[in-house]
Amino acid sequence: DLPYPTEIREYLYKILVIGDLGTGKTSIIKRYVHNIFSTNYKSTIGVDFALKVIQWSPDTVIRMQLWDIAGQEKFSGLTRVYYKEAVAALVVYDITRPNTFEAVPKWKADLDTKVSLPDGQPIPVVLLANKMDLQDEASVGLDGEEMEQFCEDNGFLKWFGTSAKDNRNIDDAARFLLEEIMHRE
Ligand code: GTP
Ligand code: MG
Repeated sequence: DLPYPTEIREYLYKILVIGDLGTGKTSIIKRYVHNIFSTNYKSTIGVDFALKVIQWSPDTVIRMQLWDIAGQEKFSGLTRVYYKEAVAALVVYDITRPNTFEAVPKWKADLDTKVSLPDGQPIPVVLLANKMDLQDEASVGLDGEEMEQFCEDNGFLKWFGTSAKDNRNIDDAARFLLEEIMHRE
């Protein structure tokens, strides 16, 4: 017998990252995939892609294909095309800008009307409250109980307070989402 497994299981998952303009979608992906952060804002045009390869266990490799969708695509009518065959999503808002939080249910509704799992169930979605490094009294939606209620009301599995700048909670959020995807396999 060989001392190691001969069969490696590989999974490819298409995961959407959506939310309003400037909330930090590209920054979160860059932090997660390349461990870099820049304060320069270069708005995404259309959609960008990133691949994160994860050795999930000794015999399991996960390829996360991250679809970084421009905030301005909210009104483009193209989201249906982008969402096709996605198995999960992250919805990002900016805790310093209330209007980006108010837009969260709209993004979620857009998702739910345009994509679902092969068995008809909604895809698993996690909410990211980003720019936590800028948190102050005026920050939006950080009360734990309120946020849990918001998640329940709007069909989010869970929320995480993240910072692309400080590399806060991004790995945890991604891991949680992957576990949810794996459960549904
Ligand atoms: P669009 O592509 O236009 O939809 O925006 P986006 O959601 O991809 O936002 P992007 O990642 O480009 O970030 C917008 C601005 O916010 C940039 O100046 C980033 O440096 C900044 N930013 C992103 N994440 C954080 C964060 O966690 N903390 C702080 N302080 N700034 C952040
Ligand atoms: Mg972007």
